[in-house]
Amino acid sequence: MTAPFPPDSTQHPLAVITGGAGGIGRLVIDGLLAAGYHVIALTRQGSVPTLEHSPDVTNIRCDLGDPQAISSATDRIRALGAPVRALIHCAGVIVPQAASDLDDRAVREQVTVNLQTPIMLTTWLLDLMPRGGHVVFVNSMAAIVPLGGSSVYAATKFGLRGFALSLREEVRSRGIHVSSIFPGAVDTPMLQKEMQNGGSAINFVTLPVPPQQIATLILRALRQRGKDVFVPSSDGIFGQLLLIFPALWQKLLPIMLWMGEKGRRKYLREHRNGTGTTPP
Ligand SMILES: NC(=O)c1ccc[n+]([C@@H]2O[C@H](COP(=O)([O-])OP(=O)(O)OC[C@H]3O[C@@H](n4cnc5c(N)ncnc54)[C@H](OP(=O)(O)O)[C@@H]3O)[C@@H](O)[C@H]2O)c1
Repeated sequence: MTAPFPPDSTQHPLAVITGGAGGIGRLVIDGLLAAGYHVIALTRQGSVPTLEHSPDVTNIRCDLGDPQAISSATDRIRALGAPVRALIHCAGVIVPQAASDLDDRAVREQVTVNLQTPIMLTTWLLDLMPRGGHVVFVNSMAAIVPLGGSSVYAATKFGLRGFALSLREEVRSRGIHVSSIFPGAVDTPMLQKEMQNGGSAINFVTLPVPPQQIATLILRALRQRGKDVFVPSSDGIFGQLLLIFPALWQKLLPIMLWMGEKGRRKYLREHRNGTGTTPP
């Protein structure tokens, strides 16, 4: 299916996505195209792998750490003059560092890309969203449980959860939906990099899921009313329990670290000898 340009928004609704070159985002784009969307991808490279010449994808080069670049990108989206049916915040960055040893650059990058940018992009595009439009935040279980060694990442994801919940209240009367997806570990370049740089064993209490599973859930959420989706769903129940009884965390932490360490060793072993990973 090939959309004319600028796309006819009745035939090919517009979806704006960040992180479209990443492990999860790239698969979300495939699903959006299959569903008939015209995709606007904001990426650092200015293109989405294997879709460089697709007429159904408008590529905008944009470093999401640079507010000026985001402002220019939103001007280009506005210039299309079409409603934005879906806005999917998928970009993210994690730099594991102890809180006693944070470096300013890494703090700024995580706060900007994971928190400030999704907030500003939403603000600048919200008036282009019609009734039935949907904002999706790809969040993390780090928005629910503490992640020792990655406190800044956790802080940004906690913050993003607060923004998404509040936004949902604000835009409900306009018929705009807001969803957040909270994955545990997902087998993408982000997890691999995180683990090579001292990421928390807590990631491996449950097995990493394949990115396609998260992409499918994001696309499913888009077809429904706004909601929060936890992956695996047992993490959601556990997370909600922790929100009610935060002291539970301290009691369970030794067991969780033991389980997570076993999982982490298995994951690193598989990646080192190139057997790939993702369990079914
Ligand atoms: N993987 C996991 O275990 C996991 C678990 C929970 C939540 N998540 C969340 O899932 C989302 C997607 O992550 P992923 O697993 O797909 O990781 P990924 O493969 O590393 O993808 C992350 C994407 O974010 C983009 N990005 C980072 N900084 C950027 C910047 N300054 N400007 C523009 N783009 C930037 C990256 O662009 P480049 O391609 O240019 O690097 C990449 O495409 C993130 O929000 C992450 O926090 C992941």
